[in-house]
Amino acid sequence: SLDDLSQDLSGKRVLVRVDLNLPMKDGRASDLTRVKAVAPTILELADRGAKVLLLAHFGRPKGERHSTMSLSMVQGDVERVTGREIMFISEVAGPVVEQSIDILGDGNIGILENTRFWPGEEANDPEFAKSIAANADIYVNDAFSAAHRAHASTEGLARLLPAYAGRAMEAELKALDTALGTPRPPVAAVVGGAKVSTKLAVLENLSRKVQHLIIGGGMANTFLAANGVDVGKSLCEHDLTDTVKDILAAADEAGCTVHLPYDVVVAKEFAANPASVRTCNVHEVAADEMILDIGPQATEALGDVLKTCATLVWNGPLGAFEIPPFDEATVALALTAAALTQDGSLISVAGGGDTVAAMAHAGVADDLTYISAAGGAFLEWMEGKDLPGVTALEA
Ligand code: 3PG
Repeated sequence: SLDDLSQDLSGKRVLVRVDLNLPMKDGRASDLTRVKAVAPTILELADRGAKVLLLAHFGRPKGERHSTMSLSMVQGDVERVTGREIMFISEVAGPVVEQSIDILGDGNIGILENTRFWPGEEANDPEFAKSIAANADIYVNDAFSAAHRAHASTEGLARLLPAYAGRAMEAELKALDTALGTPRPPVAAVVGGAKVSTKLAVLENLSRKVQHLIIGGGMANTFLAANGVDVGKSLCEHDLTDTVKDILAAADEAGCTVHLPYDVVVAKEFAANPASVRTCNVHEVAADEMILDIGPQATEALGDVLKTCATLVWNGPLGAFEIPPFDEATVALALTAAALTQDGSLISVAGGGDTVAAMAHAGVADDLTYISAAGGAFLEWMEGKDLPGVTALEA
């Protein structure tokens, strides 16, 4: 961590890999969570006298320059969050970077151009990494959310320069280790979202590691169908029912209880507060109805499960939470998790794109132990995979 970086940083050129892949709306960043997460690392290094060079990707430009994906678009956001002036540098390597660094004073901050404008980034080309490293003394990775990519800026550079984890990376790894690495049992995992197919590896890994696996969202329908339930016109991956049966058998063998809803909220159309909305037993879903949320009885029972647990890891909403009233189970269980966390009886870690939005919607964004803004990286971690960006720091 930065605590191990004991040397005087005055004038040292420190490359800081951050994740500035911000969600955009009408040409502006719509959420600054990722900038806020890395600000402490940037400010700490600047205040120690380093010349801080921010390095990040933005979108998927596939090795070519695109004005709409220039990091100059988020320069102002980083300035606002850090309260510091930031120099935009239109390259990642070469004389332009060298000259810009000469202009930067000690403790100043520069932001390099989108590293994915060069094909060497995603190819993890050692020559490309070397050209970036030539203008730096130290590498700090503060982008857990990009650590599942073995790219030049996340993996290659860590092997070329003295490498450290930034404060956000350090906090993230600590929280994730508490939740699944060396957790206090019993552990509950909530896995929701639309499709089993996108989370197969997550389910397989968790069914071996946790004591309670709570399935929600559209994927619960595939589990119900595997158990012979007629789910009407619900979203359901019928071709995966055999796979789901294998997951259920493996969970059973590992002593993991899989919780599926026994009452559900259904409607004939997916719209806000439709006239056809009703709550019923899972065995009473009509052929023209679709399941859009877990019912109140099952939600209460899940809350009781959480009360018996010491650790919770949560990825994916329980229902179609973007549209009321199908947000109720997610909100109710999130409130229970938040209350237990605040009581000190539960360590709760949530992550993944939709999950962050769901927790914010439930008003518990500050009440869980840790909420990860990582999407793909959080999922790969839940799958039990080693993340190249993290492994390279440990080497
Ligand atoms: C993310 O937004 O999850 C990270 O920045 C990684 O982006 P990527 O999926 O384009 O690699």
